[in-house]
Amino acid sequence: MTILAGVFFFQVTIALAGGSGCLKCHQPNHQERGACVSCHRGNSRTDRIEIAHHNLVPAKFAHFTMEASPVVKRGEKLVETSGCRRCHVTGAKGNRLATNLDKALVLARPQGLFDTIKRPVLFMPDFCFKEEHITELVNAILAGAARVEPEAGEIPLVIHFEDEKEAKENDFVSHCGTCHRVLTARFGGLGKGDIGPNLSGLFSEHYPGIYYDKEPWSSEGLKKWLKNPREVRKKTQMAPIRLTPDEFSRLLETVWGN
Ligand code: HEC
Ligand code: HEC
Ligand code: HEC
Ligand code: HEC
Repeated sequence: MTILAGVFFFQVTIALAGGSGCLKCHQPNHQERGACVSCHRGNSRTDRIEIAHHNLVPAKFAHFTMEASPVVKRGEKLVETSGCRRCHVTGAKGNRLATNLDKALVLARPQGLFDTIKRPVLFMPDFCFKEEHITELVNAILAGAARVEPEAGEIPLVIHFEDEKEAKENDFVSHCGTCHRVLTARFGGLGKGDIGPNLSGLFSEHYPGIYYDKEPWSSEGLKKWLKNPREVRKKTQMAPIRLTPDEFSRLLETVWGN
């Protein structure tokens, strides 16, 4: 009995001294690429599962650690086509209207990112992705975050109304907000409508979709669009909106200005 306990203690000590209590319960995995915790996090200095698995990166979110992972590739494609960068920085590119996703590795658990994409907060569009696609997106976000050195002293982004009253009375809310939403640098989220697309970052290179001739949106383009959307896109459902020149420049300034 004493001998057995001694052997057991000896083995555990070796495992822990080698830094991997994980191997007490698991087969070696991707060993040539480093320690278990370098990809899965967790705590390798214990053989108690609940402590060992604390903050664990589960297998489905661990693909981001692998170079040229097809899961990451598919996720990156979805990031492009869905225009996540209208609002987020990810992989060092994008607008800073919402959380910088390159901080995801520090800020959130992968499952937390998954849950937000699945059930988005108010000013993030619901893309109705399948779970498999959300997993790909989370891996792409984590891969982007892993490539990026955290910037020191970055200005934190605050999404708050500068002035609640001013925000309520602004031109976007009164002329566009019944059908559209937008995230602005100055006033946070504006509008309540989901009939039209979310117009965050409209004039940035990260806004998805096309304008005629595949030109990016510009203030000239928007002016023409508002005057007569059908002239730009024959089958569009949006009706013309009449704005005075003053209202139009105020709209540009408050919504898409800095
Ligand atoms: C005491 C035994 C024990 C230890 C120690 C342990 N595990 Fe596990 N691990 C398990 C068991 C059992 C499962 C399967 C059930 C589960 O998911 O909880 C598992 C599952 C996993 C999974 C798959 C989970 C998923 O959902 O993808 C990963 C990854 C994993 N462990 C990594 C680790 C790492 C890394 C360590 C060390 C830091 C570690 N484990 C330490 C017992 C252990
Ligand atoms: C280079 C990153 C990396 C390292 C190091 C690594 N893993 Fe994994 N692990 C992954 C990935 C990615 C997956 C998802 C499936 C796959 O591609 O193997 C995974 C899957 C798993 C699973 C799920 C079961 C399975 O086989 O599908 C377990 C359990 C696991 N790893 C445990 C460990 C343990 C224990 C260690 C240390 C001995 C370890 N991993 C080291 C990246 C890594
Ligand atoms: C219209 C703007 C907008 C777009 C487009 C958008 N998001 Fe978001 N997202 C937000 C807002 C707002 C939040 C809430 C927190 C914040 O202020 O960032 C958020 C939160 C998140 C979070 C949680 C971050 C955390 O720290 O917990 C994830 C993950 C995320 N978004 C991923 C995505 C992905 C992936 C896409 C593209 C498929 C996307 N978002 C598109 C606005 C947007
Ligand atoms: C009554 C509802 C309604 C109002 C009010 C409205 N829109 Fe729209 N808007 C839509 C719909 C629906 C679409 C989608 C049309 C389509 O897919 O062709 C759209 C499309 C757009 C587009 C094209 C976006 C893209 O990705 O293709 C822009 C830009 C736009 N609206 C700007 C505005 C602005 C600015 C205002 C306010 C001055 C406004 N809209 C007011 C319903 C509305």
